[in-house]
Amino acid sequence: MPDDGLIAIKPEIAAKALVTAERRAAMAEQAATDPDGFWRGEMGRIAWMREPTKIKNTDFTGDVSIKWFEDGELNASVSCLDRHIASGRGDQVAIIWEGDDPASDSKTTYAQLHARVCQLANAMRKLGVKKRDRVCIYLPMIVEAAVAMLACARIGAVHSIVFGGFSPDSLASRIQDSECSLLITADEGRRGGRKVPLKVNADEALKSCPSVRNVIVARNTGTAVAMREGRDHEWAALCDAEPTQCEPERMNAEDPLFILYTSGSTGKPKGVLHTTGGYMVWASFTHELVFDYRPGEIYWCTADVGWVTGHTYIVYGPLANGAATLMFEGVPSWPDNGRFWQVVDKHQVNIFYTAPTAIRALMRDGEGPVKKHKRTSLRILGSVGEPINPEAWLWYYRVVGDERCPIVDTWWQTETGGILISPLPGAVAQKPGSATLPLPGVTPALVDGEGKFLEGATEGNLVITDSWPGQMRTVYGDHPRFVQTYFSTFPGLYFTGDGARRDADGYWWITGRVDDVINVAGHRMGTAEVESALVAHPKVAEAAVVGMPHELKGQGIYCYVTLNAGEEPSDALRKELVAWVRKEIGPIATPDAIQWAPGLPKTRSGKIMRRILRKIAANETDSLGDTSTLADPTVVQELVENRVG
Ligand code: WT7
Repeated sequence: MPDDGLIAIKPEIAAKALVTAERRAAMAEQAATDPDGFWRGEMGRIAWMREPTKIKNTDFTGDVSIKWFEDGELNASVSCLDRHIASGRGDQVAIIWEGDDPASDSKTTYAQLHARVCQLANAMRKLGVKKRDRVCIYLPMIVEAAVAMLACARIGAVHSIVFGGFSPDSLASRIQDSECSLLITADEGRRGGRKVPLKVNADEALKSCPSVRNVIVARNTGTAVAMREGRDHEWAALCDAEPTQCEPERMNAEDPLFILYTSGSTGKPKGVLHTTGGYMVWASFTHELVFDYRPGEIYWCTADVGWVTGHTYIVYGPLANGAATLMFEGVPSWPDNGRFWQVVDKHQVNIFYTAPTAIRALMRDGEGPVKKHKRTSLRILGSVGEPINPEAWLWYYRVVGDERCPIVDTWWQTETGGILISPLPGAVAQKPGSATLPLPGVTPALVDGEGKFLEGATEGNLVITDSWPGQMRTVYGDHPRFVQTYFSTFPGLYFTGDGARRDADGYWWITGRVDDVINVAGHRMGTAEVESALVAHPKVAEAAVVGMPHELKGQGIYCYVTLNAGEEPSDALRKELVAWVRKEIGPIATPDAIQWAPGLPKTRSGKIMRRILRKIAANETDSLGDTSTLADPTVVQELVENRVG
């Protein structure tokens, strides 16, 4: 490897690549100078019921309006199913399902998936679900999750998936915000040999969700669950007798496809809204280019459908491209830490897409568990969710990929719908730790704190200067919040919330969030959400939460807690608070450290100085900066002396 860290494009990949360096440059050039022409050329990758004549109509100023393909009509499920069957690929495998238990797996062909989607879609229509109604999906990683998504799309219902690791309270607040009329769940989920009580959680949540009139329950573990007469329906009983054909709803390109809640720096999670035409074009375009996807290849993204990665790169992108997409119910460490590679060999996976946190955890166990498996089918490796440190990148490259497989480090967000910055395997030389270059049609830039553009090799706030088809359109039910969150910090520009560095080669290095969002094992968490969970505890007066560096998870959750007068700190109370936050938000929000704070560093106007709290959590206490503006500078010394960890 040369000194500048550049890993050259592999000649054998470039020779057969879908997109070469020259082609990439030509695409980027056309996308920049003639976006309408470029995207008119790309829109044919999905099936239209009515071809759009208007292509791009977007404005990042004022009220912000983003429309793509606005007079087009389509149905996303037709692009993912019907047209593959029409072209004779009905018997090809669409979903390879690998259970938590290594002995359980299944294959579903495009024709079978189509039939199951149509049956559920018909059943949902009978329950009265109509176009634009919201349907909440709270399912484990079973085939039914993809069926439910596509069935919603079929009838024009807007799905809102809630990750199975969220608590009843988190589920309830998401259902309430978008007033879902139907919930699709399962008896239980399975993960790493343990059961997740989904129906029990759902029942708890539904106590405060009057909008939900019906619940469909998939049978997964088969355990007995309470079924409320008139509200709860067994999936099989409801669907098995339904016809296997279902007329797809004609949707406008700008009709909503789904809502997905994500955390921001303030307030409750936002319902990120994606629409149909642009999102589907983006999902197909990026899945094919970034993974250099070829018909017949087996593709595996290890994410959960509860996150955007699962939406775009387990379901919509791969299925739009006619791929065989692998859905994995389990975890990398069970029954042992060779599971990923065992599954790769078992299903002959060609393209493998996972998160840095998983790589770091596996790296800790050394090469043994990897080398026990052949992995010769692998061709492309991907990374997503957080910055990948060069050490983990190189381990992934050398040990997992045997220096044979290019790594695509893909930067994107729930809001962006799909990948924005990433190498293309046959077109862009890689650098360990860099997401490299923007995809054609993506225009990143760096600005300083005042919004002034920064040129050349430098670091700053990452913005995108113009729209791309997969961009979110609004925050569900709160367009002003959309404008405020993404377009007000730097007027006229989409602000990502990330910081980035651009090097002398024009390569992009994402440095992490610059707002009060933390990234715990690739899961996005608002510090404000954890704080409000903590202060909801009767013994807590005040709380401040920051991210801290964590070897495996990237960031951990560090909480400063001030107790009510008269309450004594204790180990028991610490455990109680950890359990409390898990119950309020879900296990993914488990605090890593709780420090008792008699006082918090505040300015004279009462604003908590998080900069100082971040430094203490990171154990960088010799660079606390100026503390003279604090109302009471002595609290800092106290916190430094009693830092935990
Ligand atoms: C945030 C978005 C992208 C889908 C999964 C997470 C961070 C994501 C990378 C990457 C560095 C990354 C950013 C971003 N992030 N991918 N390849 N390199 N950072 O989606 O939950 O919406 O989180 O994840 O900080 O803003 P999300």
